[in-house]
Amino acid sequence: MSAHSVLSPQSSVLVIIPAAGSGSRLGGEIPKQFRMLSGAPILQRVIDRFAGDPRVAHVVIAVAVPADMKPAERVRFVAGGATRQESVIRALAAAEGEFDLVAVHDAVRPFFKTTTFHALLDAAAEHGAAFPAMAVTDTIHIARDGRLVSTPERAQLVAAQTPQCFRMAILRDVLEKAQRDGVGGTDEAGLAARYGYDVRVLPGDAANFKITRAEDLAYAESHFEELSAP
Ligand code: CTP
Ligand code: MG
Repeated sequence: MSAHSVLSPQSSVLVIIPAAGSGSRLGGEIPKQFRMLSGAPILQRVIDRFAGDPRVAHVVIAVAVPADMKPAERVRFVAGGATRQESVIRALAAAEGEFDLVAVHDAVRPFFKTTTFHALLDAAAEHGAAFPAMAVTDTIHIARDGRLVSTPERAQLVAAQTPQCFRMAILRDVLEKAQRDGVGGTDEAGLAARYGYDVRVLPGDAANFKITRAEDLAYAESHFEELSAP
């Protein structure tokens, strides 16, 4: 089968948004994904981006509390879990219908580019799995109990972003195997590689940062227009 037949624009795409976190590093009364960003909740902005994408057939969002937001067409909410991985597993289980491709996207990355997303979908259709990543600028050490243990070569390190895109069967397989093995990962690309799949790294984007701490939200607000540029 040629890659082209897999890459048809008719490939149906499911988007999963794990949004059941508590946002402890950002703090505040409301979890960060429900905080306002230029007049709308961050999660609402992310949902609207995907819901308005003609390549996306269905969106499932894992939340801890029933979301007080009007769901767009093709969008539904489900109860998330204690970890991001568990939230992704629950959203995937709740998705109705069969899809060729699935994208997992953090609820708090409102500035992903549609061109990047579509390139990731195409790469996942062709190779099985793909995610966006940025080169690391700091030197990263492995440390334990306050002591430096080892230092991976910086040129080989990348910082993972989302959306992370997979053929549906691959994401299902690695999540099942991770559950069976009691393996917890902070992203799905890492799990796919762990279980032997070809995971392609595509260029990420500095604007597609994860809103993690208070200063990230302040930066997102003050630079909203330029960060939103297509
Ligand atoms: N997430 C989730 N279910 C969890 C934990 C996290 O769906 N049990 C989601 C978050 O809502 C977020 C994404 O995973 O969209 C990335 O996680 P992170 O940025 O770490 O968010 P939080 O876990 O909420 O923040 P913190 O780690 O600071 O508490
Ligand atoms: Mg977290």
